[in-house]
Amino acid sequence: MDSLDIDKIKKEVDEKLDQVKDIHDFLALRVEYLGKKGKFRDWIDELKSLSSDQKRDFGVKLNKLKQDIEEDFEKMEGVLSEKKSDKYDELDKSLPGKKPEIGYTHIISQAIEEIVDIFKPLGFTRVRYPEVDWDYYAFEALNMNKDHPARDQWETFFVDIPEDKKLGKAVITPHTSNGQVHEMLKGDLPIRMLNIGRCGRKQIDIGHVPTFYQFEGLVVDKNISITHLKGTLDYFARNFFGEGRETRLRPYDFRFTEPSFEVDINCGLCLGEGCRFCKEGWLELGGSGMVHPSVLKAGGIDPKEYTGFAFGWGVERTYMMKSGTQIDDIRHLFNNDLRFLEQF
Ligand code: FA5
Repeated sequence: MDSLDIDKIKKEVDEKLDQVKDIHDFLALRVEYLGKKGKFRDWIDELKSLSSDQKRDFGVKLNKLKQDIEEDFEKMEGVLSEKKSDKYDELDKSLPGKKPEIGYTHIISQAIEEIVDIFKPLGFTRVRYPEVDWDYYAFEALNMNKDHPARDQWETFFVDIPEDKKLGKAVITPHTSNGQVHEMLKGDLPIRMLNIGRCGRKQIDIGHVPTFYQFEGLVVDKNISITHLKGTLDYFARNFFGEGRETRLRPYDFRFTEPSFEVDINCGLCLGEGCRFCKEGWLELGGSGMVHPSVLKAGGIDPKEYTGFAFGWGVERTYMMKSGTQIDDIRHLFNNDLRFLEQF
């Protein structure tokens, strides 16, 4: 601090200001002295180690120096902006402008729009429910009590905020099925919901990413049967993938549907031959089934009067399985490499 020579510093700054050629030099100089990690910050930090008398003395000097320098910088900024507007007057305004590049929606957003359009004529309305939600909606209300081993399959990210006494821990919801009970609790029957949102799971490989999208259909009405489920899924597959593709239902054990099925499609990359991505010619797109009576009850609906079906599919995998996309690693969709994205 003994070396803090006010006059010398002032002279040094004046000389540097004289050498400033453009706004870039100017901004760099301002950061050097007045920036968060600039020289003034260091000098102010040094003050802390002085006795209180010295602190007062140097503090006053330092403050004065800072004010002077700030004034010089303000003047210089004024000069530079005048120069800039002079330059603008010299511009030939008759020259054609630069065309801005027109952007377009990401392929996953395009896929979401297409999915919504396909389900709309069947009366499905798009909704969104929290992507960070309580354990209750993501698991417990879906018939998976606290210690149920079925929860392990979701590889959930827990959010580090205090637990809610009734609703439990906060989670990045691992599936869009959390929307089912939220939708039922709205109390508007019948239901034809299409919940599309982001989900999180601790997974990463060619077929899995930690953040992905799902679309969740939920229908609750009187006399809904498994044929409605099958018909809806076939209708979607025909419209999204085109004719000539095959889907199949495999029995599964989701806790919130009974019976439950996983839905597979013949792979769009190898058309069923078997490849690096699908392994055996079929790829799982999502789960489905008839809504479990306990879930209807959690949503305040009488299972004796109403029945329903639900399905939850991954948007990325569904898009990848479209014929001709030839995307053989789901991670490409999230790298934001324009050389890849511009192909679609
Ligand atoms: C479920 O998430 C159930 N909630 C689906 C469901 C809804 C069943 C309604 C019954 C009724 P699953 O864990 O199988 O099921 O995931 C569904 C689909 O989400 C997968 O087939 C896949 O397409 C996609 N998916 C799951 N995890 C990932 C991931 N880490 N990365 C990308 N896509 C994923």
